[in-house]
Amino acid sequence: MSSVDYLTDYLTEEPIDLKSDTITKPSAEMRKAMSQAEVGDDVYGEDPTVVRLEEKGAELLGKEAALYVTSGTQGNLVSLLTHCGRGDGAIVGKDSHILNNEGGGLCALGGIVAMQVEDRGSLPSVSDLNYLLHPKDNVHFAQARLLCLENTHNRGGGYAASPEEVAELVGWAHGHGLAVHVDGARLFNAAVAQNVEPSALVKDVDSVQICLSKGLGAPMGSLICASRDFVERARFWRKKVGGGLRQAGIVAAAGLYALEHNIDRLAEDHENARRVKDILQKGGLRVPEVGRPTNMVYFGTPDEARADKLLAACRKRRVIFNKTAPDTFRLVMHLDVGQERAAAAAKIIVEEYRG
Ligand SMILES: Cc1ncc(COP(=O)(O)O)c(C=O)c1O
Repeated sequence: MSSVDYLTDYLTEEPIDLKSDTITKPSAEMRKAMSQAEVGDDVYGEDPTVVRLEEKGAELLGKEAALYVTSGTQGNLVSLLTHCGRGDGAIVGKDSHILNNEGGGLCALGGIVAMQVEDRGSLPSVSDLNYLLHPKDNVHFAQARLLCLENTHNRGGGYAASPEEVAELVGWAHGHGLAVHVDGARLFNAAVAQNVEPSALVKDVDSVQICLSKGLGAPMGSLICASRDFVERARFWRKKVGGGLRQAGIVAAAGLYALEHNIDRLAEDHENARRVKDILQKGGLRVPEVGRPTNMVYFGTPDEARADKLLAACRKRRVIFNKTAPDTFRLVMHLDVGQERAAAAAKIIVEEYRG
């Protein structure tokens, strides 16, 4: 049997799904924690497991308090609604998830003006921010109240911003009277990749949203971490958008399990991404360099026709991934794909690319 036959047989058993780190399923231990969770009515603040999860999240992020919300999108939306009123401006990256992938919720539900700045797959520069900021005494301009940053940066190939890069922008924002919100859907990836505490990445940041349902492997949920006063105000907005849950301890227990067991292992996902990138590069595929990479690998083909052919051929062999541009794809490493299967997927992609 050739190595290719072996891989094909292996794959017919179970697809290797690298479309996102959101696809992980709760492990047996996580399910056990869920089934044993103590619960109460969280809208009344009476669910002890939710309270424990919020305390743990706040402690890890170095903030006074946290609020459990249903998703990353809801975490960002509730945070923005808490920071900004109608007609206020929020500065968002042109490549950011908040601007591109959250249904325009900030505009649709908050009447917030999305002031777009170049982020080039990482963080905006101070000079671009200075250019964007309008004079305060001119009635033509919406006034910016908030600067939003994304760490890691999804469209930036999982770029992890450093504490120093974040601190420079926080200093800039506070110096101009703006608050700072971090979309930290994958903040723990950024922390693990740089061997720094997650709290160091959000020092002096006014609010941060972290996802429990991505690399950390919980089935749902995010936390908004901030000052106690901000969290109490955010609680009103969470209720208004229908995010007040009752016996939420059952799902919060999964989030708590994730924070207690699944942070350090993100390093394995990063190592798998590094190996996959190597295989693809050696196989002749175009893989853009990412300054501080984490669990994602973006790669491309010379043209769109070749890209479609490659995607279809890989799907046939049960290697699943998403297209992010006409000639570009994204692979995301996660808890449910080990070293061997990640490498197998990369080899199949190269085989199909070479034809
Ligand atoms: C950077 C970033 N922010 C926010 C979200 C939204 O999270 P959710 O899918 O839980 O709404 C995602 C989801 O992939 C994301 O990648």
